[in-house]
Amino acid sequence: MNTTGDDGYFVEERSAETVIARMRDCDDPRLKEIMAVVTRKLHEAVKEIEPTEEEWMKAIHFLTEVGQICNEWRQEWILFSDILGVSMLVDAINHRKPSGASESTVLGPFHVADAPEMPMGANICLDGKGEDMLVTGRILDTDGVPVAGARIDVWQANDEGFYDVQQKGIQPDFNLRGVFITGDDGRYWFRAAKPKYYPIPDDGPVGQLLRAMGRHPYRPAHLHYIVSARGFTTLVTHIFDPDDPYIRSDAVFGVKESLLADFQRVEDAEKAGDLGFTGGWFWSVNHDFVLAR
Ligand code: BEZ
Ligand code: FE
Repeated sequence: MNTTGDDGYFVEERSAETVIARMRDCDDPRLKEIMAVVTRKLHEAVKEIEPTEEEWMKAIHFLTEVGQICNEWRQEWILFSDILGVSMLVDAINHRKPSGASESTVLGPFHVADAPEMPMGANICLDGKGEDMLVTGRILDTDGVPVAGARIDVWQANDEGFYDVQQKGIQPDFNLRGVFITGDDGRYWFRAAKPKYYPIPDDGPVGQLLRAMGRHPYRPAHLHYIVSARGFTTLVTHIFDPDDPYIRSDAVFGVKESLLADFQRVEDAEKAGDLGFTGGWFWSVNHDFVLAR
């Protein structure tokens, strides 16, 4: 026996302790702490589940497939973390905001770093599909003062529920993406198409798991935002349509009450025409974001 009371031999009752004790020479205290917790919890789970060897092999095959389907545009590990609520938990732990500041949510896999900067008011819908939408709001600090020079990076799926990067060669490049910079009044506005609910990529092992668990793969309609400004914490968030059928069952648990926006149908042909919308009506959504220092 050594000083930890562990003799190095494996017995079921102290299985985790034996594995953890083997890290005695680890000189990275954070890694040691993380691996001790992971080992303890994993052994705890296996002891509670008591898997058959077939079940354990099924788990190993699942994890293998999760890795094998990953490529530049497909990150199945993140999807796995998302559908288990772990992405949102990591986000919550790392972005505890002062009261009054806008809340964050998942980034998702479809952000691109080089979306074009556009003049305020531009229409980011380049494929002409969907219902016209005007998006307006302000970027404020926690005292309600407008933030000038804030960078607003927005992106959304098209009317058929796909991001441009999922349909390269089908959608125009940078469809439904844009970067806007606020002036002194902190205001932003742009034109787009009303978002719709869409499934997260569900043709891989995570999709199979969702179905096996009796869960659907849908995310309620949303617009993605990254709002940044000098001297403030960058905000990664969405606004959601509260009337969406999946608003209370987001496949990745990204919805927070404060992120529900008010999408209003505006039946004003003149105003629609002034905005360059041809249908005689449009959706209007106004949402302010409050940045924390
Ligand atoms: C998204 O909203 O783009 C997204 C988030 C998590 C997983 C898949 C997609
Ligand atoms: Fe999305």
